[in-house]
Amino acid sequence: MTKTVKKAVFPAAGLGTRFLPATKASPKEMLPIVDKPMIQYAVEEAEKCNIREFIMITGKSKRAIEDHFDYAWELEENLRSKGKESMLKEIRRLAQHQFAYIRQGLPLGLGHAILCSEPFVNNEPFAVILSDDIIDPDDDLLGEMIKIYDKYKATVLALQRVPREDIHRYGVIAGMEVKKNIFRITDMVEKPKTSSAPSDLAIIGRYILTPDIFDFLKKTSPGKGGEIQLTDALKALLLKNEVYGYLFEGKRYDAGDKVGYLKATIELALKNPSVKDEFKEYLLSSFSTIINKEK
Ligand code: UTP
Repeated sequence: MTKTVKKAVFPAAGLGTRFLPATKASPKEMLPIVDKPMIQYAVEEAEKCNIREFIMITGKSKRAIEDHFDYAWELEENLRSKGKESMLKEIRRLAQHQFAYIRQGLPLGLGHAILCSEPFVNNEPFAVILSDDIIDPDDDLLGEMIKIYDKYKATVLALQRVPREDIHRYGVIAGMEVKKNIFRITDMVEKPKTSSAPSDLAIIGRYILTPDIFDFLKKTSPGKGGEIQLTDALKALLLKNEVYGYLFEGKRYDAGDKVGYLKATIELALKNPSVKDEFKEYLLSSFSTIINKEK
């Protein structure tokens, strides 16, 4: 097995029903947050961790993702002729990496989407990034997870404490803290009722997986909603192998949900040098007027 994580899988074949009608013919992953599609934040997060091989799991109506990460000769010529060198450099940068696209014929769940990546993962540890969970680019969640993988050579899941009332939307773990913010996981439950949740530690959309997950995914029967659930496969895996969780205390936006998406847009706009001053001024001067109008 190679020493560290060099590949990342981006499951992006979901239907995105919470954003309909916007996602009827366009991918949810291409919805922009300020000036970049969600999936670009995810790819840049992996790029920062020296990952250079990107495996996209796509499906129907997702072609725009392929075009986005490819060279765009006409556009590049146009930018070159207008002397817009920095924008040209910016749009060419990611296209230099290796992208592979695999179509998940039917949206049979996150577990199934990850199983589709098996031929490209090629017996190495790999990161899984759900692009609708946006991590503040100033935080280094994936980097910390890779360090934990390098130490324990085992599966690592990202965890976050969530309020009790939201727990039913997540996979939730039981475990013991072996080092500050590092948990050895002993059990996990997918979308538990608040009363039966083993903790308030929810699994969020970043994983470091080892290739043995594929055997467990193959043996996992469809669960809730007829989908092959990653949590079910991980639950079987942890009976045989060690699984760790890293408690992330930084900022995450659940941008697969409309309100989370709006929060990400506002907060990341306030960090974006090209718009932050004007946008902040607008919010400060108009916010109370807008809110009062709504009442
Ligand atoms: P979600 O649960 O957010 O589902 O999937 P979704 O289809 O994207 O969105 P809604 O709930 O209908 O609005 C979590 C992640 O798993 C991927 C999604 O693309 C998303 O990144 N996924 C889900 C797949 O790749 N394939 C699937 O069959 C299901």
